Amino acid sequence: MEKVKSYANIAIIKYWGKKDKQKMIPATSSISLTLKDLYTETEIEFIDDAEIKKEVEKNGEKFSGVRDLFFLNSELQDKIHTEKISKVVDLFRTQENEKNKKVKIKTTNNMPTAAGLSSSSSGLSAIIKACNKLFKKNLSQEQLAQISKYGSGSSARSFFGPVAAWDKDSGEIYKVKTDLKLAMIVLVLSKSKKDVSSRDGMERCVKTSTYFEEWVEQSEIDFENMKKYLQDNDFEKVGKLTEENALRMHRTTETSNPPFSYFLPQTYKAMEFVKNLRDKDSEKCYFTMDAGPNVKVLCLEEDLERLAGIFSKKYEIIMSRTVEL
Ligand code: DP6
Repeated sequence: MEKVKSYANIAIIKYWGKKDKQKMIPATSSISLTLKDLYTETEIEFIDDAEIKKEVEKNGEKFSGVRDLFFLNSELQDKIHTEKISKVVDLFRTQENEKNKKVKIKTTNNMPTAAGLSSSSSGLSAIIKACNKLFKKNLSQEQLAQISKYGSGSSARSFFGPVAAWDKDSGEIYKVKTDLKLAMIVLVLSKSKKDVSSRDGMERCVKTSTYFEEWVEQSEIDFENMKKYLQDNDFEKVGKLTEENALRMHRTTETSNPPFSYFLPQTYKAMEFVKNLRDKDSEKCYFTMDAGPNVKVLCLEEDLERLAGIFSKKYEIIMSRTVEL
């Protein structure tokens, strides 16, 4: 049995839209922080058909036809969920003698799943890392990241840290240089599953948003500027651009047909709270949001404990430093 741990990442310049779905070329380049305290632990082992049969018989119809066994937070996943994971494992079942190998995967997230807390980035990257070990492929982090993007685009950035980039033009995924010690505080505003997955959401935006072209153009400028601000260790500029880029991404949802939004009333309130802390109390903190209602606050590691103290009076929070990978 092999065991691995992988970390979630949260983008400060967002990947939102695919230029080529099959080749997994993103419409926008992105930059993210890889978070030490938002992680997935995954165990993987080979199993035989008899074990699959036994589990299916025990658990019922919904599970019949699964090719592998996939337990998420101790719960056996149904055929639809398992098939998604089996397709990821297929990326490693490439040799003739590997084609019929079945696996059992046990995954545990230390955060709510599918609430826009990026559990997919740590989950997918963990499965990729686990398969690399189990199938003894010996692939580099860069090679694994390139495989991982086929499972989920954002997961590719989880192979590098503390800061990772995914370049839409070169296709490269790499570590970005900065001396800034960054951190994040997640304000958990809702734990329910999102209505529109990031995959479906971005597709609707690509197809129908009247703002999409502008988003892509501005995002290219944002990406270059962000790399420069990180290199210059200019936290204020990094923070400001993080907010602007997130708001631009969410404008593509509002300008889609039909329009939609990931925000809840409490999302707006939390954004306002972050802004007030900055403007009135001179705290260094900035917000970003993904395909869900939760707000993530970007700050410096040196301010993390104090800011966490402030936010935790009002919100359930998860705070995290970044991890060096
Ligand atoms: C808003 O990586 O979940 O979190 O490639 O279709 O699996 P797929 O999408 P996914 O999209 C992430 C979108 C985002 C922004 C980001 O992480 O860059």
